[in-house]
Amino acid sequence: MNATGWKEKLSAIRDSFSISAAKIPAENPEALELRFLGRKGELALLLRDLKDIPLEERKTLGALGNTVKEEMTAILTGLKAVSGAPGPAVKTDLDLTLPGWPLPKGSLHPLTVTLNRMGECFSKLGFSIAEGPLIEEDYFNFEALNFPPFHPARDMQDTFYVDLKDASGKDLLLRTHTSPVQIRTMKNQEPPVRIISPGRVFRSEAVDASHSFVFHQIEGLYIDKGVSMADLKWTLETFMKDLFGSSAKVRFMPSYFPFVEPGAEVEVSCVFCRGKSDTVRCPVCKGTGWIELLGAGVVHPNVLKACNYDPQKWSGFAFGAGIERFAMLLYGISDMRMLYENDLRILKQVH
Ligand code: DAH
Repeated sequence: MNATGWKEKLSAIRDSFSISAAKIPAENPEALELRFLGRKGELALLLRDLKDIPLEERKTLGALGNTVKEEMTAILTGLKAVSGAPGPAVKTDLDLTLPGWPLPKGSLHPLTVTLNRMGECFSKLGFSIAEGPLIEEDYFNFEALNFPPFHPARDMQDTFYVDLKDASGKDLLLRTHTSPVQIRTMKNQEPPVRIISPGRVFRSEAVDASHSFVFHQIEGLYIDKGVSMADLKWTLETFMKDLFGSSAKVRFMPSYFPFVEPGAEVEVSCVFCRGKSDTVRCPVCKGTGWIELLGAGVVHPNVLKACNYDPQKWSGFAFGAGIERFAMLLYGISDMRMLYENDLRILKQVH
């Protein structure tokens, strides 16, 4: 064998050692040692062949051979440590083909899930989504919605004012409801209009099981020719049945909101006791069989006029609801604060 042939052989032995050492499950390191480094091992025999090679080259080849031998010894020491050798042939339990540990999956927040479900119901009825700013002008939040300055109806909505003025010199405020999106939408487009507007709203209120200074609402607005209270009733009934099941009933109680006339509070039949809490009083509907869920009504002509819609030609209905209230009913949550605490034990129950 000449020097080149010897080098090629060394390289082949080295490759086959690497392949054997990297096998999974791992080969027994003792057997590997015997095969490559043992007295009659592949490398040992090759080193012995050096004697046939001229002295000049033998020196460098010998050094090369020894380097490979050291490499192999180091790898074998590592393999023995992993497999717990010395001892009989040991197979490791490592199986890289097994699936990994599952990573915990995140999920949508109950409020987002609720909003998505409500949004789906309305999108089936042809409503599209409109959005507005959280920092709002007095004009959009109150005035154009038929709350004149100093009108007592403003007292229904404790407001956070921002230390900035709008173009007319009035303080900006954090919107107290999603109703200003009605005005913004109507001022931006010609009728007909069919929108829902979900989003965050703010009120200067103390926090308790059913109040928060930040919460979420969804607003609805439908303007067309000849839209009446009957359309409002049908739309809300269809929505409630879609969300809570076909046995859900809806009733309207007269109420007052400056931007609608007539105005109503809309109640749904209690989804928990179904009105049958004769012996034990249902804690959700307080035994009345009804749960108040929305404000609604026929859009006031003053609101249409503020948006340059002719009230003789166009009419419509509007409604607004708190998303938290729906989430609490859908997921049986009794305290609104649970929705903001982000306790995983609660969040994990909602998918
Ligand atoms: N904006 C009202 C509130 O936050 C809710 C509401 C009532 C919205 C009646 C409406 C409506 O669109 O017609 O209290």
